[in-house]
Amino acid sequence: MKGIILAGGLGTRLYPLTHSISKQLLPVYDKPVIYYPLSTLMLAGIRDILVISTPRDLPMIESLLGDGGRFGLRISYRKQDAPRGISEAFIIGEDFIGGDSVCLILGDNFFYGHDLTGLLKRHGDLKKGAVVCAYHVNDPSQYGIVEVDARRRPVRIVEKPKATKSSWAVTGLYFYDNKVVGIAKSLKPSARGELEITEVNNRYLTAGELSVEYLGRGFSWLDTGSPEALITAAQFVQTIEKRQGLKIACIEEIAFKMDYINEGQFGQLAEKYGNSDYGRYLRHVLEYGTEDV
Ligand code: TTP
Repeated sequence: MKGIILAGGLGTRLYPLTHSISKQLLPVYDKPVIYYPLSTLMLAGIRDILVISTPRDLPMIESLLGDGGRFGLRISYRKQDAPRGISEAFIIGEDFIGGDSVCLILGDNFFYGHDLTGLLKRHGDLKKGAVVCAYHVNDPSQYGIVEVDARRRPVRIVEKPKATKSSWAVTGLYFYDNKVVGIAKSLKPSARGELEITEVNNRYLTAGELSVEYLGRGFSWLDTGSPEALITAAQFVQTIEKRQGLKIACIEEIAFKMDYINEGQFGQLAEKYGNSDYGRYLRHVLEYGTEDV
């Protein structure tokens, strides 16, 4: 399975913060926003990753992550000239996806919770159909919402409904088989001028090929699209990291633990971050390991 991080957009809700920098490069506590979705793909076992961003932001993201080799990944880059919708990722990424299935994650999405790794591994080898992850929210009118029947099977997905009985929002983490490329290419722009991901998901749903993974109460799904969301996410990460002494979305540690890199390579990364708290953490992991389960 290939992975795509869609990290473009204008970030208008964060102006002036995003006047001259991508929202995906802003900090969430001790690391840039894009580390969080990247770590999610890595935990799904995905090592071939395409980052899509704006012509302005792509060089800076590339200077942060490079070709991914130092994390045991292959990262490539393509630009999206204008935010023409989430589904355009599959058109821009057509060559990259080739004949594989693909996991798409939005560059500003943050997932955390018990057995997230198990969930990701379960879908990381999807061969047929599509899986979307749904999360219970208190303001359904802001999201794509999955309407469900009495047995919680999906009936339809509606974009930003004014009135709905369902509170299950479609999150920015999706798994698709290879048909997604053809579906994306057949879409017409919506009234707001975007190739809508909701339309892609409804096509799978109508074909009886959409599964919904309901992320329960033990999960956290946060985004980082507004100043309020950004500080909430930062406080969340700070609270958990301080309490546990374990880092969230530490891509260097994940690369080491997933055996994407060896101890020597991990040691080099740890050295590189010098005297920062982050560097000290990596050196601690190198010396003592972590006892997490
Ligand atoms: P949004 O938050 O919907 O858009 P945005 O990032 O431009 O922010 P704002 O609404 O404040 O102007 O996008 C969600 C994520 O998807 C974000 O990481 C940007 C990405 N995205 C693209 O890269 N290209 C697109 O065409 C769209 C619609 C979103």
